[in-house]
Amino acid sequence: MFCAAHLLRVSRRFAPAAILPLALLLSGCWLDGNQSTFDTKGPVARSQLDVFNVTWYVTAGVFILVGLALAYATMRYRARNAADEHAEPPAQSHGNPLVELGLILASIACLVVIAVPTLRAIWFTYDVPAAEQADAFVVTATGNQWWFKFEYPTISAKTGTGAETPLVTGNELVIPAGRAIRVNLRTADVMHSFWVPKLAGKVDMVPNRGNHIWMKADSPGYYFGQCAEFCGESHAVMRFRVIALAPADFAAWVARQVRAAGTATEAGTDRLPPESAAPPPTGAKFTGAAGTTYGEFDGDLLGYWRRQQQSAPLADGALIARGRQLFTTKTCAGCHTVRGHEGAGVTAPDLTHFSARTTIAAGLVDNTDANLRIWLTQPLAVKPGNKMAKGFADNHVTLDGADAAALVAYLRSLK
Ligand code: CUA
Repeated sequence: MFCAAHLLRVSRRFAPAAILPLALLLSGCWLDGNQSTFDTKGPVARSQLDVFNVTWYVTAGVFILVGLALAYATMRYRARNAADEHAEPPAQSHGNPLVELGLILASIACLVVIAVPTLRAIWFTYDVPAAEQADAFVVTATGNQWWFKFEYPTISAKTGTGAETPLVTGNELVIPAGRAIRVNLRTADVMHSFWVPKLAGKVDMVPNRGNHIWMKADSPGYYFGQCAEFCGESHAVMRFRVIALAPADFAAWVARQVRAAGTATEAGTDRLPPESAAPPPTGAKFTGAAGTTYGEFDGDLLGYWRRQQQSAPLADGALIARGRQLFTTKTCAGCHTVRGHEGAGVTAPDLTHFSARTTIAAGLVDNTDANLRIWLTQPLAVKPGNKMAKGFADNHVTLDGADAAALVAYLRSLK
């Protein structure tokens, strides 16, 4: 027979197994991951966490009180012998006005305690506060199957012919830290959702609808973003990064980005000197699809980003020139832009300063020679259903080993 003593014996046996995950949870091991909403780094995410905490404290309190009352009633009024089991039930107190009114008022009090901070957070997270409007920095994020385009309407970039166009980047959004950022949310196809768990989230990108979100990073950092609305077969791997920089660093980044692509075959032309003797990225920690590596997804991510901004020495000018030629003949230029070079397509990520980014394939794998070669030659193995693979198939484009090596050399020369 299942009795309290048996229950106690069972719970004693399993208590250590239950306590271990609880202890891990409470010690914070699971709460500071790259996409944890508990490790907030900005006021919008903090306000959302506050609402979660208030709701959790109130509901946990209710759960404990009801649980204790239930446990007390179960123990106190349980049948202790055969006579108890057949006894008349004790007098019932249904309709006791004090209990009924008390429960109604307590429920209302709980709801009010949750509603006040919730409403305050809804107002706060809706748009940049009035006091910060004048200083707000505006960007437009556009969801595409399956990558993010980031456009800076207030920053003009050079095209190479002297004309200017708004600065556009792909999958890595660089912002000034400590400033309110208003992100206009658009989509080029289906619904997506913009979510940077440590900074703000999430708001849907809806066709024919001008949504927006705002966020602010307390301090410089490297933050993980993720599409949070099902948008097709690679939804789960539609990622992005947000890199927040101190004002001077941000200005320096803008100055580098607005330049047209360097002439890849000429060493030193429009290329950046190494900023410091920082060590090269450390080795891979684990291996992903098709042998791609995710070596830098842990550790000093902002440091990794900074190292990516430095120019690598030109390895092979002839190979780079061949890659630049293939970029057109293999139809890459029809979808991608390399400002100042041949590419002028807008349906795929802008690659003007491609090699200054930390990731490829929409935040999926590290931006390394080896990963890029795998991405170009086996794109479907890295990201299911991606449009580049479809474009290759539709246009009967094939890349042999030498083609891939030349394209890698060219793309990786674009700092
Ligand atoms: Cu885009 Cu899910």
